[in-house]
Amino acid sequence: ATPVILDCDPGHDDALAIMLAAADPAIDLKAITTVAGNQTLEKTSLNARRVCTLAGITGVPVAAGCDRPLAGALETAADVHGESGLDGPELGPPTVPLAGEHAVDLMHRILRESPEPVTIIAVGPLTNVATLLRRHPEDASRIRELVVMGGSIERGNHTPYAEFNVYVDPEAAAEVLASGLPVTLHGLNVTHQALVTPDVVDRFRGLGTRLGEVCAELMTFFGGTYRRLWGFEAPPLHDPVAVAYVIDRSVVECVRAPVRVELEGAYTRGATVVDLHRRMGWEPNADVGITLDRDRFWELMIAAVERLGGR
Ligand code: BDR
Ligand code: CA
Repeated sequence: ATPVILDCDPGHDDALAIMLAAADPAIDLKAITTVAGNQTLEKTSLNARRVCTLAGITGVPVAAGCDRPLAGALETAADVHGESGLDGPELGPPTVPLAGEHAVDLMHRILRESPEPVTIIAVGPLTNVATLLRRHPEDASRIRELVVMGGSIERGNHTPYAEFNVYVDPEAAAEVLASGLPVTLHGLNVTHQALVTPDVVDRFRGLGTRLGEVCAELMTFFGGTYRRLWGFEAPPLHDPVAVAYVIDRSVVECVRAPVRVELEGAYTRGATVVDLHRRMGWEPNADVGITLDRDRFWELMIAAVERLGGR
């Protein structure tokens, strides 16, 4: 199994990314690290622990990381994920503890101690990852690859041209993309193919477990947001796409491309500029997700929730 650190900001779709990463046998989940994004660090960390408690994920350390972007103030997505960051179902208080170590220290320690290179899946703002690379540049060679949910080859969501994770910490995204690490970017253009249609909600519910029911309720809340803010008929399950790609490469077809982040821009700060047709003379620095195998994706996602719910 591939050793993985999952860096996240739960978040409805992050919650399901945690479940997929913890349950799929192709992944050996070494840590769940949290970052400020969808909500404050305090809330995303609490949510990660609540999800682990509910899903019976007990052997994986949960560590809190950076509480604000590299530059500027934190902007959260309370309008998308609610005041708690995980509005919808009643989730009790967590019994899974918070690790005493800062997420960046934990990442560094895992990378140093692992006998083989470790994959980092980042599905929140890239602040923790950029901070790790600033503090421990030598760790780059211990990272097998970095798989990110973020950006877009077309339009954004938080602003017309910026996707939320990149928008919150554009400097971090720019540094990570310039680092020379093997990076894969799954942006909105591919995650919007992972729509939680009513038949998917039925499949979660049909598992007949408390966890399946919670997933259905999370997706129902998320669906309300997407209908209200963006006129979607069903909400996109962004973050698990990055996890599914690590489990099975065939889930997302990618192209190699140069990607840069707009750091200025009167209206476009945080936009990912993906030079698909190589007009800019830039070196390609990322694999970019283009096409999702929907059937395979949902098969993996539902099987993970089934596996956790049955234990
Ligand atoms: C990303 O932003 C967050 O709201 C989601 O959790 C996802 O990681 C989508 O733009
Ligand atoms: Ca997220």
